[in-house]
Amino acid sequence: MKTSERPKHSKILILDFGSQYTQVIARRIRECQVYSEIIRFDTPAAEIVAMQPKGLILSGGPASVYDKGAPQVNPGIFSLGIPILGICYGLMLMAHQLDGRVVFTGRREYGAGVLHMAERSELFDGLGNQLDVWNSHGDEVTALPKGFRVVGTTEGCDFAAVEDPQRKLYGLQFHPEVAHTPRGKEILQNFVYRICHCAMNWTMGSFIEEACARVRNQVGDDKVVLGLSGGVDSSVTAALLHKAIGDQLTCIFVNNGLLRAREEEIVQRVFGENFHIKLKYVDASERFMSRLRGVADPEEKRKIIGNEFIRVFEDAVVDLAKTDDGSLVSVHKFRFLAQGTLYPDVIESVSIEGNPAQVIKTHHNVGGLPEKMHFELVEPVRQLFKDEVRQAGVQLGFPKEIVYRQPFPGPGLAVRILGEVTPERLAILREADTIVQSEMEAADWYYKVWQSFAVLLPVQSVGVMGDQRTYENTIALRIVESQDGMTADWVRIPYELLARISNRICNEVKGVNRVVFDISSKPPSTIEWE
Ligand code: XMP
Repeated sequence: MKTSERPKHSKILILDFGSQYTQVIARRIRECQVYSEIIRFDTPAAEIVAMQPKGLILSGGPASVYDKGAPQVNPGIFSLGIPILGICYGLMLMAHQLDGRVVFTGRREYGAGVLHMAERSELFDGLGNQLDVWNSHGDEVTALPKGFRVVGTTEGCDFAAVEDPQRKLYGLQFHPEVAHTPRGKEILQNFVYRICHCAMNWTMGSFIEEACARVRNQVGDDKVVLGLSGGVDSSVTAALLHKAIGDQLTCIFVNNGLLRAREEEIVQRVFGENFHIKLKYVDASERFMSRLRGVADPEEKRKIIGNEFIRVFEDAVVDLAKTDDGSLVSVHKFRFLAQGTLYPDVIESVSIEGNPAQVIKTHHNVGGLPEKMHFELVEPVRQLFKDEVRQAGVQLGFPKEIVYRQPFPGPGLAVRILGEVTPERLAILREADTIVQSEMEAADWYYKVWQSFAVLLPVQSVGVMGDQRTYENTIALRIVESQDGMTADWVRIPYELLARISNRICNEVKGVNRVVFDISSKPPSTIEWE
């Protein structure tokens, strides 16, 4: 962006020092209807100025300012006249780089504390004399830089909240962004509205209009193809593109034979009939099933499904480029490939030793890019967090069943059938899964949890039905709550609901005589079983 252009939104930039909470800060700011972006901690001051932020936040991070190679900011940022809020490591760094004194305590302090206000401060306006706060830090400030004063203390820390109101520099030893600091959002609101004078102009309505304009600009008269999975991200991407470019968009929906019951019906109805989006339905279940025959290894299954998806998708694109008599017009009929990439996937994670966000890796992204087709990418929701994509979905007119549906893995039911995937085992799992979903919905629990599903175990056990001894399959129930899928806990679901699900599965699903409930959290377990 040229410096002379006026930004459309008030913007807060968050300099990331590798805290596990950096994304939470960005989300909290956006909840204030102020646009926020995460950038690397070492972004040069000139680049920051060019982005025209109304304020900067220095995130927390795992390092100590005394570590060798500890991340530093470009000192020029402190004299730009842009308000700065340093959180935890951000505060230590500010104190350290501005000639205050920081000591390394050698112990990390975690947990709840009470902040006592010592001075009136704009940052704490309207928040009273004391606040519950959440600490997680290792270093401690022991002497303030010139011009700073203490505005709040906790039992363990004389410099828990500090400021230099002249230079508009603020620092907090605790974390205002986490739920354990109950009034933290109000602190952040004071920062963005009172101190940075941000306008509340980041709304979904304005985002959609701007995203449509950007897409039209990028795509021109060319054609776009999109792999629709039926999940929230690709669905919202499809609707947004359709709003922007209408029939220049074609969606491809691949039935890999590993979908939940009636999934293909729902997707075709919502997109074809409700939105009138051009939709090519490809039933490739046989192709997938034949490749999966005899394969029991989880990684192998995932690889096969991912690769086969790309092949099927490429074939479908070639198919779409054919005329009615079957001759090929041009493989390059579609210049663009659209993807529902979200903001958490594009944030460049900073590599700082001890950063837990570095350690937790996902094994996802099945259904990668068909690279040899040389598409250019269109990613209209890459600025959004998941909850924002959902809001966009509501604005675009999707029903609740699509916008708030639970996540479903790309490799589908294959990773919920332990061992070999066969048509018989798929039929058993699909039936059990349908019962789990319908009972969860009927009891008003479906939308309260992150995921609820059935897993078919490769275990048979003895049972009794009537006078007959049975030797049948076991279904495990997995019902978890989670914020983002990175960590999760099993849900303390009412016994009555568990009983109903279990009874129905044992009575109605042929081939199952036992249901067990998975009571493991993530970590150490994962949410899916494979
Ligand atoms: P795990 O099993 O790693 O799953 O704890 C975390 C979250 O990711 C979903 N998941 C996937 N999503 N493609 C996806 O799009 C995949 O291959 C995949 N594998 C797992 C899982 O359902 C959970 O919500």
